[in-house]
Amino acid sequence: MNLCIIGTGNIGLATGLCFAQKGHVVDFVDNDDAKITLLQNGQTSHYEPKIEILLQSLLAQKSINFTNNIKNVINKSEVLFITVGTPIDNLGHSDTSSLISALEAIDKCTESSSKTIIIKSTVNPNTTLQLSKKYKRHTFVSSPEFIREGSAIKDCLNPDRILIGSTNKSESSNNLRLFKEMYQHFNLKKEIFVETDSTTAELIKYSSNVFLAARISLINEFSVLAEKTGADIDQLQFALGLDPRIGNHYLSPGLGFGGSCLPKDAFALVQFGNSIDENLLMTNAIIQTNFNQLNRFIEKIINKVERSSKKICIWGTAFKPNTDDMRDSAALKIISKLIQAKYKIHLYDPKCSHQLSLIFKNQPEVSVFTDAFEALKNADALVVCTEWDEFINADLTKIKTHLNSPVVFDGRRIFKNNLMRQLGFDYYSIGTKYEPNNSL
Ligand code: UDX
Repeated sequence: MNLCIIGTGNIGLATGLCFAQKGHVVDFVDNDDAKITLLQNGQTSHYEPKIEILLQSLLAQKSINFTNNIKNVINKSEVLFITVGTPIDNLGHSDTSSLISALEAIDKCTESSSKTIIIKSTVNPNTTLQLSKKYKRHTFVSSPEFIREGSAIKDCLNPDRILIGSTNKSESSNNLRLFKEMYQHFNLKKEIFVETDSTTAELIKYSSNVFLAARISLINEFSVLAEKTGADIDQLQFALGLDPRIGNHYLSPGLGFGGSCLPKDAFALVQFGNSIDENLLMTNAIIQTNFNQLNRFIEKIINKVERSSKKICIWGTAFKPNTDDMRDSAALKIISKLIQAKYKIHLYDPKCSHQLSLIFKNQPEVSVFTDAFEALKNADALVVCTEWDEFINADLTKIKTHLNSPVVFDGRRIFKNNLMRQLGFDYYSIGTKYEPNNSL
């Protein structure tokens, strides 16, 4: 089949490349010229494991094409995927302006022909239904995406569910047939195709992300209790996970949830609730707990490391490992508070150094390094914000000898408390009661 993807962010690109790998011909459209030029040359503007290799091999096979002009490709495809961003505004309302622009462009170029438009972007419940009433000529399907950054290709090729949210019951069997055809070479079990109405599909997406966020906020709340009582948070996490009703996913305590989706969707759901006169107490509490978790950690740093001309080294600025995405990253929030408190900052992240150099180019108090141990030199403390393998496997003795004083704040629990204390570190973690190191 000929498919068209509008929006070449992580979701759009990964989705389209996986369809092309499974035998479809895919046209990608984006109004960001620089991005399109990069993609035409086999390069991506963001880091995602395995994506560039797949991109280059599909370009060589000529099964994908990139353009900044929808007119060039619209007539080739009957099925159009919309994967543009739907960020939130300052108050947390979902902003669908890019989605509307894409639909206007489609409507203008298609004249009298009708298309099936699949909305993958995250939108408020009822949005797809409203769009189908406005752009009557086309068939709309809501099919939100659940892929994660850092494992986008793997997730796309092995989806755990595919939502087929129809705007009209009479269209659902045709929509199911279409999705089965698009996914015929993916080797999927038939149970993963979930037929629903479009509003339910939209709410499933919000519910999934807010549910994951809830688990993280709960384990983080327990981590505070463990830290104060001396209970063992690792054993607590393990034992909770053994209960099959609970399961062991999304139970790692840390600096809270970040990234481009979980925080945004929690805020957007709260505002959506407000718009229909519902105060979403749980979702609000999830957001507040996430905020408190990070602030507690920042206070620990500021209380321990006296400020005047002290240097703090931060390892990891991406919101999680295996991505260079720093949207809503814990590290950026920590850095901003430490700058306000007049610290000097050394930064290192395996994939973000170029972006960091641009962000902090006019801030002499921030130095960006391309080597983890260079960043440690002369620093008075190390703060770990992202659990990259490079940090998990780092030589602890080398960390100690590079630092001015052996003080470590571990926001992702990548080191072991006993070992750190034996090695003579003053070690602050999340969920572990702090004990001063008397050997210092
Ligand atoms: C998320 C959803 O998982 C995905 O289904 C959806 O399509 C997009 O949003 P992603 O943003 O890539 O994916 O991040 P995810 O891997 O879910 O992690 C989100 C945040 O939670 C990260 O900041 C991560 O560090 C944090 N996290 C995750 C924890 O703090 N503890 C955990 O146990 C798991």
